[in-house]
Amino acid sequence: TGTVTLDPGFTNTASCESEITYIDGDAGILRYRGYPIEQLAANCSFLEVAYLLIYGELPDPESLALFTRRIKRHTLLHEDFKSFFTSFPAGGHPMSILQSGIAGMATYYDHTLDPQDPAQLDLATTLLMSKVPTMIAYIAKRATGLPLLYPDASRSYTEDFIRMTFGLPYQMQEIDPTIVNALDKLFILHADHEQNCSTSTVRLVGSSQANVYAAVSSGVGALSGPLHGGANEAVLAMLGQIRDSGVSVQEYVSQVKDKKNSVKLMGFGHRVYKNFDPRAQVVKGLADDILERLGGDNQLFDIAQELADTALSDDYFVERKLYPNVDFYTGIMYSAMGFPSQMFTPLFALGRLPGWIAQYRELVADPAQKIGRPRQVYTGHDERQWVPRIERT
Ligand code: CMC
Repeated sequence: TGTVTLDPGFTNTASCESEITYIDGDAGILRYRGYPIEQLAANCSFLEVAYLLIYGELPDPESLALFTRRIKRHTLLHEDFKSFFTSFPAGGHPMSILQSGIAGMATYYDHTLDPQDPAQLDLATTLLMSKVPTMIAYIAKRATGLPLLYPDASRSYTEDFIRMTFGLPYQMQEIDPTIVNALDKLFILHADHEQNCSTSTVRLVGSSQANVYAAVSSGVGALSGPLHGGANEAVLAMLGQIRDSGVSVQEYVSQVKDKKNSVKLMGFGHRVYKNFDPRAQVVKGLADDILERLGGDNQLFDIAQELADTALSDDYFVERKLYPNVDFYTGIMYSAMGFPSQMFTPLFALGRLPGWIAQYRELVADPAQKIGRPRQVYTGHDERQWVPRIERT
């Protein structure tokens, strides 16, 4: 074991080779399969980008039509599955329910579990892309007690997700295209981010040859944490807290710098991006647009702006190269679209879904793949002798 190197948080250890996503953290570059994120966000639909991540190329019109048709054919959830959602408390966090729901898909669709059978893996890919939006919409409906809606294959992927989440029977047949378009772009921006915490989790679980549902549901668990995807919900809570407590932005930033109560500036900082997060830049542009058109909570947006300006000109943040990340503005946008804050991280999960699937597929197709098994540096006791219970003090 003399060769073991300690690397907490894997700041310096590559766990795999990958052809999917390229990041240059110093230059603020993010590319999926070679294509700059800005070009994809400006010109593609989320399903096109999902195809690109999963199959390696942008689809021609025929391939995209086929991919979309396959996904639409499977959007219904098994009827029995609905009772699953009602077995959790209505106020249970959507991420916990989503994690369980995705893991549970392995029981309903157990003919799609073998990662070494390409037909099964392809069907599992389709089922995840098809059913997870339905599931998230059901979870949102369950929280409010409003009736569930069945999927409508005549609508686009993102439009129908919004309809299922907010729509009522015989009502709301028109979905605001501004919201559909913005949400679709947000999904694209979240679709992959190489070996982040949740994706590494998906790969680690997949490396034991566990099925794709087990791996992706583990990714959802990792994503839920406030240092990862949960940051989008935490940012809005932070902005609300600043507004309600009456502390000035300057004071709040000082508390962060003093590391008082270990408060962090949520939505700031990134392990890899040290100049700017290219996703945050696109999101900021979208946020200006969405808030103007939808009239979101401008007070919170103003606090966010002031926080960003204050932090970006403060030595603490400058020296540590801390910048707004993708989660800084997304919560405000989701909120303006009408999503309650507990639904923010499930939206991130839906966006990240094709990335997790693509990474799982790359992993199981790699003949050099071994089970993931980090080593450790043991710091506990040397050998000691067992003592009978009565003699222990
Ligand atoms: N507010 C205040 N100080 C910070 C922050 C922050 N948001 N982020 C990092 N620092 C400080 C940190 O305390 C440390 O200071 P010092 O050198 O004095 O000990 C220094 O900056 C380096 O930070 P680190 O903790 O070594 O950085 P990391 O690469 O381990 O962590 C991070 C990256 C994203 C977890 C962290 O920046 C963070 O906790 N940010 C807030 C949560 C957040 O917004 N997460 C979303 C990340 S992007 C999208 C996603 O993954 O979901």
